[in-house]
Amino acid sequence: MNEKYEELIKRAFDAKSKAYVPYSNFHVGAALLLRNGKIYTGCNIECATYGATNCAERTAIFKAVSEGEKDIEAIAVIGDSTSNYTAPCGICRQVIMEFGKDIKVILAKSIKEYKIFNIEELLPFAFTKSDLD
Ligand code: THU
Repeated sequence: MNEKYEELIKRAFDAKSKAYVPYSNFHVGAALLLRNGKIYTGCNIECATYGATNCAERTAIFKAVSEGEKDIEAIAVIGDSTSNYTAPCGICRQVIMEFGKDIKVILAKSIKEYKIFNIEELLPFAFTKSDLD
């Protein structure tokens, strides 16, 4: 378990180097682990119209889903801060929840320093597809 997640954090760390962040200069990387073992990575991508910015988590998820892969086990996230964990924003929490209430969210400060949450802990009492039934 730990080795698997540490590899995922390493992939998120590598993805962070691709961040396009001319406005905040805050780099974020994410790596998504699918239940079939595949990994998709993502970085944050900013835009001069700030609101069009896409977070690293959503970049990774949208890459996977657009390739037909949506059976997500876990997502690792790492930002530039070494003193604080970079936690997913509200929109990303909602998008993670869309693909499963058991998804593990691994917040990392480094490859060895991380915390594991369940998405339900980060987004309690969520509105989900079952509310539309
Ligand atoms: N950001 C992410 O990519 N993921 C997070 O979990 C938090 C914030 C990005 C958005 C923006 O490019 C920069 O970090 C500063 O908010």
